Amino acid sequence: MSVKRRFTIDVECLSNQEESENSPKLNQTRQKRFCRQLSDHNCEEYEWIDGFNKEQKQSENIRFFYSGIEKLPYKIADINLAELGRKALTMAEAEMPGVMQLRKIHGQKKPLKGVRLAGCLHVTAQTGVMIETLHELGAEIQWSCCNPLSTQDDVAAALVKAGIAIYAWKGETDEEKLWCIDQTIYFPDGQPLNAILDDGFNLARIVHEKYLHLTSLIHGSSEETTAGITKLRKILKEQKLKFPVINVNDSVTKSKFDNNYGCGESLIDGIKRATDVMIGGKVVVVIGYGNVGKGCAKALSGLGARVIITEIDPICALQAAMDGYQVITMAEACKKGQIFVTATGSTGLIRGEHMMEMRDMVILCNIGSGQTEIDVVWLKQNAVKIENVKPQVDIYHLSNGRAIILPADGRVVNLSCAHGNPSFVMSNSFSNQILAQIELFTKKGQYLIGIHTLSKTLDEAVASAHLEYLNVKLDTLTPTQSTYIDVHPFGPFKPYYYRY
Ligand SMILES: NC(=O)c1ccc[n+]([C@@H]2O[C@H](COP(=O)([O-])OP(=O)(O)OC[C@H]3O[C@@H](n4cnc5c(N)ncnc54)[C@H](O)[C@@H]3O)[C@@H](O)[C@H]2O)c1
Repeated sequence: MSVKRRFTIDVECLSNQEESENSPKLNQTRQKRFCRQLSDHNCEEYEWIDGFNKEQKQSENIRFFYSGIEKLPYKIADINLAELGRKALTMAEAEMPGVMQLRKIHGQKKPLKGVRLAGCLHVTAQTGVMIETLHELGAEIQWSCCNPLSTQDDVAAALVKAGIAIYAWKGETDEEKLWCIDQTIYFPDGQPLNAILDDGFNLARIVHEKYLHLTSLIHGSSEETTAGITKLRKILKEQKLKFPVINVNDSVTKSKFDNNYGCGESLIDGIKRATDVMIGGKVVVVIGYGNVGKGCAKALSGLGARVIITEIDPICALQAAMDGYQVITMAEACKKGQIFVTATGSTGLIRGEHMMEMRDMVILCNIGSGQTEIDVVWLKQNAVKIENVKPQVDIYHLSNGRAIILPADGRVVNLSCAHGNPSFVMSNSFSNQILAQIELFTKKGQYLIGIHTLSKTLDEAVASAHLEYLNVKLDTLTPTQSTYIDVHPFGPFKPYYYRY
């Protein structure tokens, strides 16, 4: 049995959506119509044995079965931490005006009723507030974590207590992380996911690789971060992307805030909790002067660090120089730094040849989304001794008699050694995530297979929702000014290409 859903690919509509990145093949065809076969064959394959009531389903001892496969209703570290987690969630709610406003406005209308959302993003208090809001808006939710070290176990427990299926705990192995993601694909009634909320293309990648037969049922995915968008662009280029994606990262109220101000504050938090080191006076090398690098450099120099930047992009290098930083190559910087921070989203930034040149007891941190910015594999293979100082902090002794301090095994330091970006800035990011999910579901078929950003109007609305909390008062355009600069008094105030 199959159902047909119709999509219209309309070039007129595309030209209005200048912010969308669509498959070139689709772009060239004017007014072309196509159908996607939606087969429910895969759902029928799974037999759902539901003998449990809602309360029983919440008990860890009860397992769900479909097609003979055992499925736990959730898997976390310790349900007894729920009370602690609820307190963290309550504190975060107070600092997340945008998300709470969306909960209030849309809570009654339940625009996400019918959404079976699989999410894969750091299970922190801020994410918890977003998850509970998406739930309040009507979505059924199953969640895993995109990083094995960033789950706050107390928050995970509080969410499970509130009826959300969480599969995540701090200190997962890579295999366990994949197992957790796998648990979020099918829901307790045997039906598969129909929406994705992702960080770093972790979940959407698995769906493209392992559950390709389900992609036609998915009305879209919203991607949180730069690294994920980079990977999605690659598969879009290869024409392998199977559903529409909203690029949340490139909403201005995300990348110019969370990546910049958020990472600036949480990097310091991560370094301090891991090492207790004094930052004032230290020579700190920041590798990459994009949104994250800029925020990190500013926060570090604010504490008195002497910051050096390395870059490959002449524009970013010039910005760094004009902001007052020394810009040199990594070959030079590796000999000078006392703390190193990788912030590129790329791979192999700090390699063996650099590490052998470094001073004794340097600290190597990564704040980018992957785990390969620092060559940890080389470090592990070449260390003569590895000393564990405490959870998430190791000292690697090298053959040259010097040592290197490595927090979080080279994974994202702000989320692994501290609690990630502060609630207020994440309220901006997650307001965009919630709006993206509403857009994808309520305008099914209007977003083509491709990568889209939310409209400038929504971006400005997210910013507006955060002004009152900071006692910010806006001026308004007079009619004369409005005519003079050709901007409507209620926005959008900038063209989509404005860079801020
Ligand atoms: N930890 C967090 O909370 C968090 C939050 C947001 C983003 N991120 C991640 O941080 C990373 C950076 O994000 P961004 O938004 O700043 O991206 P970006 O693209 O704005 O900046 C990356 C910068 O790195 C530079 N770069 C690339 N290769 C380099 C090299 N070999 N040497 C020196 N510089 C190089 C690029 O030119 C660019 O300027 C991504 O992986 C992103 O996903 C992490």
